[in-house]
Amino acid sequence: MHIIKVKNDRELSDKASDFLLEEIKRNPKAVLGLATGSTPEGTYRELIKKIKKEKLDVSQLTTINLDEYVGLSEDHPSSYHAYMNHHLFKPLGLTKEQTHIPKGDAPDLEAETKRFERIIQECGGIDFQLLGIGENGHIGFNEPGTSFDSRTQVVDLKPSTIEVNSRFFDNKEEMPRRALTLGIASIMESRRILLLASGERKQPAMKRLIEGPVDEQFPASVLKNHPHFTLIADEAALSGVL
Ligand code: F6R
Repeated sequence: MHIIKVKNDRELSDKASDFLLEEIKRNPKAVLGLATGSTPEGTYRELIKKIKKEKLDVSQLTTINLDEYVGLSEDHPSSYHAYMNHHLFKPLGLTKEQTHIPKGDAPDLEAETKRFERIIQECGGIDFQLLGIGENGHIGFNEPGTSFDSRTQVVDLKPSTIEVNSRFFDNKEEMPRRALTLGIASIMESRRILLLASGERKQPAMKRLIEGPVDEQFPASVLKNHPHFTLIADEAALSGVL
């Protein structure tokens, strides 16, 4: 595990966007695994600025998103489809054909998990996976106790995740109880992985990630077994740890 400590969220966004930019420059046909949530918002904002400034061609990129809420259609304002369109795809002009997100409103969810795994295989696997981390150590929506062998699956969200993520919904009752997520084995097959953590809310998770064992009760710990895993975290997230 390679750890980069930055001052604050602004620096984290700058550094993380550089990682993505380098990946795109190295391989304009890269397959990028992407996350949603609060943490990568600044990273996407900086990445868009840098791509436009350097006039990079993004027409051959492929993107694969980690997860989507069960029951939400693509145009639901709190769906991860809407998030990605707003924060990255529309500003960069990425097409529907280039971008893949599990369909939360698929009539057959099991078939959707299989379709999604197939897409990853057909793309030749994920070159660079961007991740955030839940306060309980989840990656994607793989909650504590998920098998490290899991593939793309339908999961029940933990009450703590429902509580934390209901901030993205106007009405808390609307927050879905289930999600589709890439499995842990699917994530671990990515060639490189970059995990981002910012703010004191993530400090206990950072302490457990850095100091604790590799353990299915703390899903992010599996990343320590990956040969090309980098963590970028800010001072607040690492306080009392590093
Ligand atoms: C989102 C995802 C989640 C988030 C995690 C942290 O696609 O897979 O694992 O990365 O819940 O979310 P934020 O960044 O909102 O704290």
